[in-house]
This record gives sequence, structure tokens and C-alpha cells, in this order.
Amino acid sequence: MERIVILSGAGLSAESGLDTFRDAGKLWAQYRIEDVATPEAFARDPALVHRFYNMRRAQAASARPNPAHRALARLQADWPGEVTLVTQNVDGLLEAAGASPIHMHGALSRAICAACSYRWDAPAEMSPDDPCPACTAPATRPDIVWFGEMPHEMERILSAIHSCDLFAAIGTSGQVYPAAGFVEEARRSGAETAELNLTNSDMSRAFDAHITGPASNIVPAWVEALLQPKR
Ligand code: APR
Repeated sequence: MERIVILSGAGLSAESGLDTFRDAGKLWAQYRIEDVATPEAFARDPALVHRFYNMRRAQAASARPNPAHRALARLQADWPGEVTLVTQNVDGLLEAAGASPIHMHGALSRAICAACSYRWDAPAEMSPDDPCPACTAPATRPDIVWFGEMPHEMERILSAIHSCDLFAAIGTSGQVYPAAGFVEEARRSGAETAELNLTNSDMSRAFDAHITGPASNIVPAWVEALLQPKR
């Protein structure tokens, strides 16, 4: 086995204190997606959308990587083949642990200008009147992929999935496409598939193997087993 692709979701960062979306009482129980996470919401009430992401940016800034982030960084560094980490998470905890993930849903730490597409490091607080540092238009938004928008780096991600030997999904509910379809893509390409999650998810049936438990326990153990020399 040489090439590994790992898709992660909010469950990876749950034990760092960051809320998931669909678990009971979590983010989508407190906010409506159509109020804070669509281009239409931003056009209607940019101040509300900025407040939501300013809050999440502050929470992410005070969170620390947990043993699951650190184990994935170790796997990426020590695996003799290639490990592509694809995350739906917009926090920077994988990077803080030393890993290099693809942020398919964007990053709280980045801003983008809706007028000229210039990108820069987001300030702690963004507001609708902020001018773009490149073109000065007051059209700045968080560099977050909202519902109805195309995730980042899809070509690179699909090419890694189509040539991988093992595809694993960690801490994701499998309710949001295109990420939810990656396991089927990987299966069609002949990869082994494994799901690591606190419980069974909507896409559990699509996986060959299941490891159940909190990410901070099961991910380090799984990585340890992968890195164990085979006899
Ligand atoms: N360890 C492992 N898994 C966990 C843990 C934990 N400690 N806590 C929760 N989980 C699992 C849940 O069982 C669930 O399957 O994490 C998953 C979280 O699912 P969601 O809240 O739906 O998060 P995610 O799959 O990342 O959402 C996908 O939806 O709203 C969007 O853009 C947002 O990127 C996000 C996308």
C-alpha cells in the first residue's frame, strides 16, 4: 500500500473544543444554514455572516490540536508513500500539528475579495465595510466555501482519490457533497476504505472497515498500526 487519502470532518476537531455541525445541539441547531452559510445570506445580511465567522475564527484561534491531528501529521511525515490530507474543516489545527492539508471548504484564517478574487490573511474581525487590500472594493468575505459554491482544489483531490490504495474518512457525517461521494470514487478505483467515527454515519455502509470511538483515541491507534513494519 503506497498512497493514502484521508478526508476529515468536524469530528476530528470536536475534542479540541470546536463544535461539529450536525451532532445534537451543535452549530446547525443554533444557526440556520440559509442565514449564515450561503452566498445569498451574505448578499442579504453581510454583517450577520461576518459575525458568525468572526466568532468561529476566535474559537479556532484559541483551540489546540488534539492527539488525532498530531497522529495525522505524523502519518504524513513518516509514511513511506504519499498521504493526502483533505479536510472539510476551516480551522487550522492540522497545520498547527505540523500537517499539510487541502482545505476543500476554505479556511477561517483567509479572506477573499468577491470583486477581484485577491486572497490574504484574514484579520481577527472582518466587517462589510473592509476594503480589499488589492482593489479597495468593500467586497471582502471569509475564504469559506458556502453551500452552493464549488469546493477548492477538486481536480487535485479527485486525482489523489483515483490513484489511492486506501481511502479513510474521519469524523464526518457524510451529508455534504461532493465530499460524501469520495468513498464511492475511491471504491470504484479499487481502494480499500475505512471509516473512523464516533458512531455510524450516513455513509457507513459504503466502507469496508469501521473503527468506532473518539478521534483522539482511535486515530493515533490506527496510525500506529499503519506505521508498524509488516512481517
Ligand atoms: N470523534 C470522532 N468523530 C466524531 C467526534 C469525535 N470526538 N465527535 C463527533 N464525531 C462525528 C459525528 O459522529 C459526525 O459523524 O463527526 C461527524 C460530524 O458531522 P458534521 O457535524 O456533519 O460535520 P462534517 O461532516 O464535517 O460536515 C461537513 O458540512 O456544514 C458543512 O461546511 C460544513 O464542512 C462542513 C460540512
